[in-house]
Formats: sequence, C-alpha cells, structure tokens
Amino acid sequence: MSDNAVDLSAVKDEIRQMPDPCAVIIFGASGDLTRRKLMPSLFSLSCEGLLPDQFSIVGVARSKMSEDDFREKIKEGVEAHSRIKSSQCNKWDSFAKNVFYHRANYDDPQAYKSLNKLLAKIDKQVGGACNCLFYLSTPPSLYPVIVDQLGRAGLAKQSEEVWRRIIIEKPFGHDLASATELNHQVHDVFNESQVYRIDHYLGKETVQNLLVFRFGNAIFEPLWNRNYIDHVQITVAEEVGLGSRAGYYDTAGVMRDMFQNHLLQLLSLTAMEPPAEFNATSLRDEKVKVLKAVQPIKPEEVAQYTVRAQYRTYRDEEGVASGTETPTFAAIKLFINNWRWRNVPFYLRSGKALAAKVTEISIQFRHVPHLMFPLPPGEQLPPNALNLCLQPNEGMNLRFETKVPGAGMRTRSVDMEFLYEQDFGENVLPDAYERLILDALHGDAALFTRSDEIELAWSLVDPILEGWAGKYASTLAFYELGAWGPGKSEEFIRADGREWLYGCSQNGASTG
Ligand code: BG6
Repeated sequence: MSDNAVDLSAVKDEIRQMPDPCAVIIFGASGDLTRRKLMPSLFSLSCEGLLPDQFSIVGVARSKMSEDDFREKIKEGVEAHSRIKSSQCNKWDSFAKNVFYHRANYDDPQAYKSLNKLLAKIDKQVGGACNCLFYLSTPPSLYPVIVDQLGRAGLAKQSEEVWRRIIIEKPFGHDLASATELNHQVHDVFNESQVYRIDHYLGKETVQNLLVFRFGNAIFEPLWNRNYIDHVQITVAEEVGLGSRAGYYDTAGVMRDMFQNHLLQLLSLTAMEPPAEFNATSLRDEKVKVLKAVQPIKPEEVAQYTVRAQYRTYRDEEGVASGTETPTFAAIKLFINNWRWRNVPFYLRSGKALAAKVTEISIQFRHVPHLMFPLPPGEQLPPNALNLCLQPNEGMNLRFETKVPGAGMRTRSVDMEFLYEQDFGENVLPDAYERLILDALHGDAALFTRSDEIELAWSLVDPILEGWAGKYASTLAFYELGAWGPGKSEEFIRADGREWLYGCSQNGASTG
C-alpha cells in the first residue's frame, strides 16, 4: 500500500448502516455456489460487522445432513474461499450457531409448512426471521416449483412491518420465451420490487466504479461519444475451461453463459446516459434504453457480425455431447443506434481456455484530426486508449503520446495508471456476492437486473443463436488452449482496420 493510500476503516464506519433483523433462506444449500460464494460472503459480511445481531441463515436442500454436518461443510467452504478467514475474525461460533439446515423436497408442500414453522422458531430464538430473503441457487428448472410453493405457503407475503424478497441466480431462462415465462411465474407470486435477479458482475467493485469514473468526474464524459471515440472493446477472457459443468455449459455455450448477462451489462454501463439519481429505477431505466437502442444482429447477418469457436479439446471433456457445436468463444460487433453512439462499433469477446483471465473495457479514441509532426507517409500516431481493468490488476490506464527526450520530435506511447491495490491496499475489494447480498438485505435493487432488461438482453441473443444454428452461419472455428481465440477472431476485427487491444493484460495476442 503506498503512503498516500486511503484508510478504509473511516469510510466503512460512515456507510455502516444495518439491514433490518432478518433471515436468509438458501435453496440449493448443498451446492457449490453456497459453499464457494454465498456462505463465505455472508461470513465476511458478519466479520465486517455489516449484519444485524438478529440474523440467521437457513440452508434448504434435498441431501440428508445434520445441522452439524451442514455447519462443518460451510466452515470448510469459508476456510477455502472467504475473503476473511475464521482465523482472522473471532466470529465463527456466533455466526455458525445461527445457521440452520432444513431438508426438503422442493415440490413437497409439507416441506414449506415445516420451513414456515422453523422460521417461526428461529424468530423466537434469534429474532428477525419474519423478514426473509430467499435465495434460489438450485438448478434453474426448479425455480418455478420453489416460487410456486413459497407462494402457496404464504411465505412471499409481506406487510407494512415485514418484508419478503427473493434473489434468483442466473441463468434466468434459456431464451426469450423461457425468460418471459419465468418472469410471469415469478410475478404470479412476488411483485417486481421483491425480485432481485443476480448478475454477479454488477457486484464487482470495478464494474460499479465505471459509474463513478464516468459520472463522478467532469473530464471524461464530454469525450464519451462518437465525436471522440473510434470504437469500444469489451473483453471477458477466462483461462479456465469447462471444469465440471458440462451438463449446464454444453447446452448453454458462451453466448448464453456470458454475453446475455455479463457482457451486455458491461455494454449498458459503458454506453448509457447519465442517470439523474443513483437509484434502482433511474439506473435500470438508462440501461434498458441502451439495450433498446442496440441494433440486433439478424440470423442472416451472423457471418458478418460474429465469430464463434470452440477450444480444441472441448469435445474430449467429460459429459459433452459427441460432435457438439457449442461455442466456448465468441466475438461480436454491435452498434447502438442513438445520437451518442451512432456508427461506433462495440466489439465484445469472451471465451474459455484462453491465454489469460482478464476482464477489460478499452475505449479507443480517434486519431488526431491533423498531424503537424513529421512522420513517414502513411503513418499515424497511435490513438489514445483508455483501459478499464476490471480484473485482475484492478484499476485503469490511459495511453497517450509523449515526446521522446532529445533532438527532433519523436513520440512514444506511455501510460498513466491507477491501481486499486496501490491506492487502497491489498485485499480490500469485497467479493461481488458480499455487495449484492448486502444490497438485497437493504432492499436496494440498483445492482440487480429488472425483468424488462433480462428480456431485452435475450431478444438480442436469440437471433444470434438462431443464426448460428441455421444456414447463414460460417463453420465453427477452433482454437488452441491458451490462445486468444481462433485466427478468425483476428481476421474479424482486422477487416475493419482495427486490432484487439490488450491494454490491461499487456501480453499481446496469440491465436490458434
Ligand atoms: C459465470 C459463468 O456467470 O461467470 C462462468 O457461468 C464464468 O462460466 C464466470 O466462469 C466468470 O466469473 P468471474 O467472476 O470469474 O469473471
């Protein structure tokens, strides 16, 4: 941490407002997400003193498990994955004592009656269990069943004194039709104001910082438009491959898994107009306007505006269908038809088994309108680029030209850089789930996806998937593990006279 690093404890005291006494009820409690993310995040929140004293957690799952087994299981998860370990915070015992386990078949009405009873008991014992945050972390096919049963058991009903909210994990639907149907099923039981559809990218500090960067500074926004920006690139690259998720991933692929949610959210935040206020309605209204202005890629246009590819060993992974065409990489070009962005291409790419894990947004500015320095004919100075490094090496850098010392007027590109770690210290960035769960406990839905937003995103993704499945698609490309995607992806952007930018990874391109 540098000498001028900010002391965050003072900032935390300032914002430490307590949620109401409440209970979090996690459906899918024996699953991986609960172990790796939800419980570790809840524990870190508790260590930070951000949860009320009257707070409890009920894990609901089908597995046969005693309360002690469940507590032991989550302890292992916390040790392995929590930002704050139990050894760094002496709250484990008080945290664990208010963690309960409820075994249930999700479609059994009896299970919800007994859950109701358990909550009443916890309310007497710990307090606060009338305010409930339900968390759906089961396979998505169970969402309608659980929502319906919660409704039947009267568990979704709120009053002046009592709130009931529900967080729904992604994937929210498989396409526009299923997402719309799921929205209807959810709305039959919960009002939209009770529903928190999670996209964990919105919980990332660096993604929220996009808002501060754009709207908390006066100097960038005047440049943030077609007059100054040549194009925008959004890259979400992952080093990992499929892992053990073949069952889900092979039917989803990169477009459903990453573009429908994370990449389109990043696009919306980058391109939206300044909201008048920082609240759920204003923010989401502006994001929705962006999605409405995006020119959909029609099925017959996929060869022109998209590239899809699969890493070479994907078909050998356990559990994927033989000869599967599921893409693990895609690059697409989108246009936003409004005054600010008309004719500015947004290149989005994402893939698994790539050269590095890096999420970045690169804004490439236009060339200077007139060059007064002598350069060989046909040469130009590199344009300025602003790179927002969302993960890892969180921060940002601005690339600009500077004079090389000495005779003549030679120039070179240099970077002006901000790094979170340098200015705020190490390990200060909370996990996305910490922020999002806390927001839901506070009743703040600004960083959650609204029903219309989800449907609009699907309406952009569906025609691409349709195109890829039909006669207009070019053949699926392949890439080597550890490359930056297929060669076709380079050809795709070079056809526009541009290159992929590596402003945050700095290790250049290599394709396979
Ligand atoms: C999830 C996808 O939503 O995001 C995964 O389902 C992906 O396939 C993950 O690996 C990436 O998240 P992060 O936070 O590691 O960038």
